[in-house]
Amino acid sequence: MIQIEKVSKWYGQFQVLADCSTQVSKGEVVVVCGPSGSGKSTLIKCVNGLEPFQAGSIIVDGISVGDPKTNLPRLRSKVGMVFQHFELFPHLSITENLCLAQVKVLGRSMDEAHQKGLQLLDRVGLKAQAAKFPGQLSGGQQQRVAIARALAMDPIAMLFDEPTSALDPEMINEVLDVMTELAQEGMTMMCVTHEMGFARRVASRVIFMDHGQIVEDAGKDEFFGAPHSERAQQFLSKILQH
Ligand SMILES: Nc1ncnc2c1ncn2[C@@H]1O[C@H](COP(=O)(O)OP(=O)(O)OP(=O)(O)O)[C@@H](O)[C@H]1O
Ligand SMILES: [Mg+2]
Repeated sequence: MIQIEKVSKWYGQFQVLADCSTQVSKGEVVVVCGPSGSGKSTLIKCVNGLEPFQAGSIIVDGISVGDPKTNLPRLRSKVGMVFQHFELFPHLSITENLCLAQVKVLGRSMDEAHQKGLQLLDRVGLKAQAAKFPGQLSGGQQQRVAIARALAMDPIAMLFDEPTSALDPEMINEVLDVMTELAQEGMTMMCVTHEMGFARRVASRVIFMDHGQIVEDAGKDEFFGAPHSERAQQFLSKILQH
């Protein structure tokens, strides 16, 4: 579903991604972890064309992301993205947030969009909040709305960039539960997260990045059992102490 082949990216002189290669098959859940600044966000933003890259190729569902002829807005409508800070429209109600892209990008009728939005809101346990505004919801609730909004586009894959790292501890699980359900239903997912409990439960593979490189790309059991690189071992031992 997602093929990343020798991708490199520079900001001026600074190389932020170095020869990154990996792939995510249909239904796979790949967790991406690594120290701050290692290029995790940049890598997944490249996957749906939010960041350009200078070398290598990324193919999503047969479409080359780096090809100038590719219709990026159309590609993005097929690949859901959930960010750390939710990125809901603060001046729109939850319902309006859920309907906007369905109507504008997919051309659905307001009725159809509304119905789909409510159905997904129900699925993430927030049907009662439909008329509220984002500022009236907790962080965990807002993030679940953001997930529902992405799902309303019927994505072929979902990308998550630290979806729980801005949340209070008690709200982390409500978001992870929704993500776990999605994974179990067979959604193809690439998740930047340091929630290693989640990784252990649902990941097919774990990718560890350092200094713009994919240092480790291993099955979950292999990764948690005995990571090859010393850097990944150090990283794991640090975060597993928490
Ligand atoms: N627009 C930009 N211009 C220049 N450098 C940038 C830009 N965006 C990111 N960087 C640099 O690229 C590197 C990788 O950033 P990125 O956000 O991908 O890291 P990350 O692994 O997601 O880190 P974190 O865990 O803190 O989110 C960092 O050193 C960052 O400072
Ligand atoms: Mg990041």
